[in-house]
Amino acid sequence: MLACNHLRKIYQKKCVVDDLSFSVRQGEVFALLGSNGAGKTTTIKMILGLIPKDGGTVEKAEGVKIGYSPETPYFHPFLTGGEVLEFYGGLQGMSKGELKQEIPALLKRAGLEESSTKVKHYSKGMLQRLALAQALLGDPGLLILDEPTAGLDALGRLEMMHTIQMLRQEGKTILLNSHILNDIERVCDRGIILKEGRLVYEWENGKCGKDLEEIFVEKIGGTDR
Ligand SMILES: Nc1ncnc2c1ncn2[C@@H]1O[C@H](COP(=O)(O)OP(=O)(O)OP(=O)(O)O)[C@@H](O)[C@H]1O
Ligand SMILES: [Mg+2]
Repeated sequence: MLACNHLRKIYQKKCVVDDLSFSVRQGEVFALLGSNGAGKTTTIKMILGLIPKDGGTVEKAEGVKIGYSPETPYFHPFLTGGEVLEFYGGLQGMSKGELKQEIPALLKRAGLEESSTKVKHYSKGMLQRLALAQALLGDPGLLILDEPTAGLDALGRLEMMHTIQMLRQEGKTILLNSHILNDIERVCDRGIILKEGRLVYEWENGKCGKDLEEIFVEKIGGTDR
C-alpha cells in the first residue's frame, strides 16, 4: 500500500530522518513510534509531500487516496463542524451532491451531529473527532493520523481507538502514531520504533514476547537522551 525507501531529512545540518525504510501493507494498522523529536511527524510530512525530502522515495499503491489528520488540528473557529467538512471537501473537489451525501454520516460517526456549535467552542476531543472526519472525506483507502489521541481523556482515547478498529474492519489501511503504547498494542498490527530519525526496532503485535513498553524503554532509553 505504501513503501518508504531510504527517506532522509536534514534540518540545519542535522539529519532528523536518516535512511528510513518501511512499508505498510494493505488493510493493516501500522504504528510509527519514538520519543519526542524522533522524526515521526517529519516522516509523515514527507510521505504526504508537505515538505521536500533530502533523499529516498515514497511509493504508493496506484490510485490510492490518502486522508490526513495533522498533529495539531486547527480549523477556522467561526465555522461549525459541518461547515468545516464542507470547506475541506470543497478543497478536494467534491461536488455539492457528494458533500451532502457524506457529511451527515461523518458528523454522526464523530458524534458531532449537533449542527450549530462553532469550532471555537469545541473541546479537544471534539476537535480530534472532527479532524478524523475531515480525513475521511472522499473515502480514502489510506489514513495517516498524526497522534489522533493527543489530549484526549481515557474515554476519548478508547472511543478513538474503537473507531480506528472499525475503520480497519471497513478495509482502510491506517498509519498512525501515538505515545500511548497501550493504545498501540490494542489496535496496531505492526510498527517501527524510531530513535533520532533511525529505525531501531520493527515491532509485530503479539510476536515479540515482551510488552511494547518494555521494548520501547529498552530501545529508546539510555544515557544519550
Ligand atoms: N521546520 C523545522 N525546522 C527545524 N527543525 C525541525 C523542523 N521540524 C522538525 N524539526 C526537528 O526535527 C526533529 C524531528 O521532529 P518531528 O516533529 O518529526 O518529531 P516527532 O517524532 O513528530 O516528535 P513528537 O512526538 O514530539 O511529535 C526534531 O529535532 C525537531 O526539532
Ligand atoms: Mg510529531
